[in-house]
Amino acid sequence: MTDALHHSRFMKAIRRESVDATPVWLMRQAGRYMKEYRDVRSQVTFLELCHNPELAAKVTLDAQRILGVDAAILFADLLPILQPMGFELEYIKGTGPVIHNPVREPVDVDRVALHNAAETQHFVRDTIKILRRELPADIPLIGFAGLPFTLAAYCTEGGGSKNWQHTKRLMYSDEGAWNALCEKLSAVVIDYLKMQADAGVQVLQLFDSHVGQISERDYRRFVQPHVKRIISDVQSYTNIPMIHFGVGTGHLLEAQDEAGANVLGLDWRVPISEGRRRCPTRALQGNLDPVILFSKQEAVLDEAKRIIDDNAGTPGHVFNLGHGILPHTPVDNVKALVNFVHEYTAS
Ligand code: CP3
Repeated sequence: MTDALHHSRFMKAIRRESVDATPVWLMRQAGRYMKEYRDVRSQVTFLELCHNPELAAKVTLDAQRILGVDAAILFADLLPILQPMGFELEYIKGTGPVIHNPVREPVDVDRVALHNAAETQHFVRDTIKILRRELPADIPLIGFAGLPFTLAAYCTEGGGSKNWQHTKRLMYSDEGAWNALCEKLSAVVIDYLKMQADAGVQVLQLFDSHVGQISERDYRRFVQPHVKRIISDVQSYTNIPMIHFGVGTGHLLEAQDEAGANVLGLDWRVPISEGRRRCPTRALQGNLDPVILFSKQEAVLDEAKRIIDDNAGTPGHVFNLGHGILPHTPVDNVKALVNFVHEYTAS
């Protein structure tokens, strides 16, 4: 890593060193709320965009430049790695991702294919190469992947879900098939993360967006072993730091902490000060409720101030939302938020 990247605010905060101002970036910072993104999307489908390194890189660069955030995130998605595993993936306007041939019965897990993500996701490697060349020298690039529970949830449901009943049905009915599915997903995710590390990202974020649906006891039994394996396998390959994020995971924080990532992402339900108490050795990322960005600007900044004050100047805070930016979010509020975090925390 270059000196400029190593000494950037974002990398320092991840190492829990003191910073000149709190670094900030926003999950889903490149997305439909931004005109520049909609212009690109009007020319191609979502999957075409994911498979097109020049356009994907443009989307990442636009968001970083327009918002003035301290890190850029690779433009890609959680689910395209499922395509070479045999899943027929489509993104449908108004619905989101759909898998036309979900895994429902234990025997279906046998047909899930393994692949080498370093080869099949070559377009992601190319996007990272362009980004590392084009980004400002002191702006770290974040790569990412989904964790097994969240990926398995899409594989079993065939899309988003309220109750995740097919996911839980497989998990509770046949632990062997559940573990076999998670092991296949883990193997692919490990290759995918290593490829991103080799291609030039500075940080890896692991998304377990839906794991808050299960109890701590079941997390430890059905999920944590897979997450631990992914993190330790990647850590034995590279010293790139990892951010571990979930939604509605307040009851799982200690169990997630044990999995070993450097940074824990908190949603808005858990105060930063509580995260500090419960996970004292980790840097923390979060945690403004993305829905607050629809409020009047003064309310947005008041809430950001409250979060920063709650952290009480403790080193190791990356300001972010508690989940991704929603479509139709007013861009001016997002820009004002980023400026406010920098100005209010400047030393
Ligand atoms: O700016 C960024 O954060 C980078 C790119 C990124 C996207 N998705 C782009 C995207 C990242 C990091 C993701 C992660 C992702 N994808 C998650 C985990 C985070 C979370 O929000 O919980 C999940 C669960 C997915 C799967 C996925 N992809 C869903 C559920 C959807 C539909 C929801 C929606 O917002 O439409 C997508 C599509 C998607 N991924 C879009 C973007 C910009 C919108 C697609 C469009 O242009 O129509």
